Amino acid sequence: MTEPAPKSPAFKPLVFSGVQPTGNLHLGNYLGAITRFVALQDTHECIYCVVDLHAITVWQEPAELRKAIREVTAAFIACGIDPKKHIVFNQSQVSGHAELAWVFNCVARMGWLNRMTQFKEKAGKDRENVSVGLFTYPDLMAADILVYRATHVPVGEDQKQHVELARDIAQKFNNDFGASIRDGGFGDVYFPLPEPLIQGPATRVMSLRDGSKKMSKSDASDYSRINLTDDADAIAQKIRKAKTDPEPLPSEEKGLDPRPEADNLVGIFAALNNTTKAEVLREFGGSQFSTFKAALVDLAVAKLSPIAGEMKRLTQDPAHIDAILADGSDRARVLADATMRGVRDIVGFVQKK
Ligand code: TRP
Repeated sequence: MTEPAPKSPAFKPLVFSGVQPTGNLHLGNYLGAITRFVALQDTHECIYCVVDLHAITVWQEPAELRKAIREVTAAFIACGIDPKKHIVFNQSQVSGHAELAWVFNCVARMGWLNRMTQFKEKAGKDRENVSVGLFTYPDLMAADILVYRATHVPVGEDQKQHVELARDIAQKFNNDFGASIRDGGFGDVYFPLPEPLIQGPATRVMSLRDGSKKMSKSDASDYSRINLTDDADAIAQKIRKAKTDPEPLPSEEKGLDPRPEADNLVGIFAALNNTTKAEVLREFGGSQFSTFKAALVDLAVAKLSPIAGEMKRLTQDPAHIDAILADGSDRARVLADATMRGVRDIVGFVQKK
């Protein structure tokens, strides 16, 4: 008689995502990622991580890094992430991330990492001189997700390839160690295959100076972006100076196609107002930009300046932020340690019982 096949564990839905503490968070991060994180809290258990280990794949001034870790944490909370119901922490305080990343360095193949487009872009012509960490960055990202056996990963389009690599790593680990996983009583598979939750193109926020470029923390001009720390005056000024064209707004979405700057501002209005571009154009079609921008200033200030105010309040009390990160790390560590005990057994390491 054949034994019934061991059951695979049913992985319970769990959301994981990370944000790098490198420089200013801006409207693009807010509409593209953070509002999504906030919304997922109602339907899922969520873990949101400030990925400081990823940050140091390129040089970070230590004092700046420390400040940025606290600032991203403050932004999460100011935007509405609840660190009591969910978990908010910084990656370096939970050693399981780095430990699992090492195991994954030994699972992932050179050829897989060589295909990562973000590495090619970031390394450019300087391939011989970038850190080894920048190359293995996707293995650490896979470890971030899988050390919690997370099932859903909200990310931008640019990170989709990395989440797919995490799936490939999970699958290869499950296959390579299949016998050991079953013998250890862990079921058929140890890791879930995480799914990317990709933000829609509607929330892709472009530079206020050039509608063909993404809004970016590294753009030389601060007028290209609205930072989450900008006060009402700065928000208003940047919107008033935003590039447009001489035509009034179209009444239909199709009319935005050849007009990237108009498209971007209408998209920002729609996203901030929780509505669609079509709806915005129903109201503003035929209006001059002066009228539309005045309405956009009011909306953006109403939505964003409370966030800036709250961030300012929070960052004035670093001890409070550090306490939130310590508490989140303690709770994350319990989960990560449980996964790592299994991993060590499965791989064949010897550990204290
Ligand atoms: N690489 C991601 C980015 O730059 C950040 C990140 C690190 C992340 N680890 C992650 C995102 C795990 C999702 C899941 O945007």
